[in-house]
Amino acid sequence: MKSTDFIVARNDLQDCKFIETQLPDAAALPDEALLIEVDRFAFTANNITYAQLGDQLKYWRLFPAPENFGNIPVWGFGEVIASRHPGIEVGERLFGYFPMATHLAIEAADVSKRSLRDAAAHRQSVAPVYNAYARVSGNPAFAGREGDYQALLRPLFILSFLVDDFLNENDFFGARSVLLSSASSKTAFGLAHLLHTLRKGIRVIGLTSAAHAGFVQSLGCYDEVLTYDRATALPPDSPVAFVDMAGNSELRARLHRHFGDQMKYSGRIGLTHRRSLPDEPELPGARPTWFFAPDQIRKRAREWGPGGIDARFGAAWSGFAPTLQKRLTVVEGRGPAAVQQVYLDTLNGRIPPAQGHMLALMG
Ligand SMILES: NC(=O)c1ccc[n+]([C@@H]2O[C@H](COP(=O)([O-])OP(=O)(O)OC[C@H]3O[C@@H](n4cnc5c(N)ncnc54)[C@H](OP(=O)(O)O)[C@@H]3O)[C@@H](O)[C@H]2O)c1
Repeated sequence: MKSTDFIVARNDLQDCKFIETQLPDAAALPDEALLIEVDRFAFTANNITYAQLGDQLKYWRLFPAPENFGNIPVWGFGEVIASRHPGIEVGERLFGYFPMATHLAIEAADVSKRSLRDAAAHRQSVAPVYNAYARVSGNPAFAGREGDYQALLRPLFILSFLVDDFLNENDFFGARSVLLSSASSKTAFGLAHLLHTLRKGIRVIGLTSAAHAGFVQSLGCYDEVLTYDRATALPPDSPVAFVDMAGNSELRARLHRHFGDQMKYSGRIGLTHRRSLPDEPELPGARPTWFFAPDQIRKRAREWGPGGIDARFGAAWSGFAPTLQKRLTVVEGRGPAAVQQVYLDTLNGRIPPAQGHMLALMG
């Protein structure tokens, strides 16, 4: 049996192609193994960032590809089409991290009522969350459009939730405004929604490109929206926290120099603009630092106890999910040509921010 895989050149993400890979026959699967058909997956700028950081954060190790190429991980759904695990039936639906491919073989382990894990040796160098699959058959929260929202936004909204919690816990480091770059991104939208609904007295300011300013305004959770060229029109004498989804060195330097000591926090989250210099100069104000989600998760897991994060995250998601129908248009694409087009459009910043793309390589 064969899988069709979409792979990209690690040192030139514009270079991409399809290959066929051999899968074990259903009859020859080893004990405990599952063969999964990848049914549909979300694709956003976050997946491009996985590719950019593929070596550094070991994402390329998850789904092996020929030398110098990588298979970008995506969040989505798969259906079990062959099973050698006594607890998993053919037809089961799983939600988790998949390759951009038609199929994936995994070694099922730690199978419980709600989840399982891929124990394949090459996948163990990343955080456990990337190897876990939720068993979602018959779960309406993971079906139809609700399921698309989960794939498109849940992995991003976890970051939004953690940053909101972290800033609030630290009393916003004395800031009374939060600046978000790439304010039109889904991750920024989630954070702006939480700040707007939960943190009274905090001003939420979105920085975005001219083409996306109207969309960001329409989200209704930013107190002010500025295009990048106007970012330093803000008064320099009031304390701000900067949450940086764009990862644009020039923008970061401009903001730090403008706000000086009033830059109370500068958290690096994303790289949507792909304009990050390897060596950045010392800047005035708080030192820019990467926000490392697993640290905040570990801390809160200790403090909030078993189920504490899930309960709070579930409540936050329940407040956010109903806004999505109005704000996000889900666009579906099937087959290799559609996948390649959405990949290149995302890579080159051509996807309108109001769109969320759900893809499948199966034609
Ligand atoms: N550290 C973490 O754990 C973590 C977790 C979640 C997300 N993130 C990061 O947050 C960022 C946002 O991810 P997302 O999936 O939410 O993004 P998204 O919704 O796909 O964001 C799209 C927006 O990003 C900007 N953009 C995208 N591609 C661009 C390009 N080629 N050139 C210029 N601008 C471009 C544009 O915003 P503007 O015009 O407004 O700039 C665009 O509207 C990613 O870098 C992601 O990796 C990090």
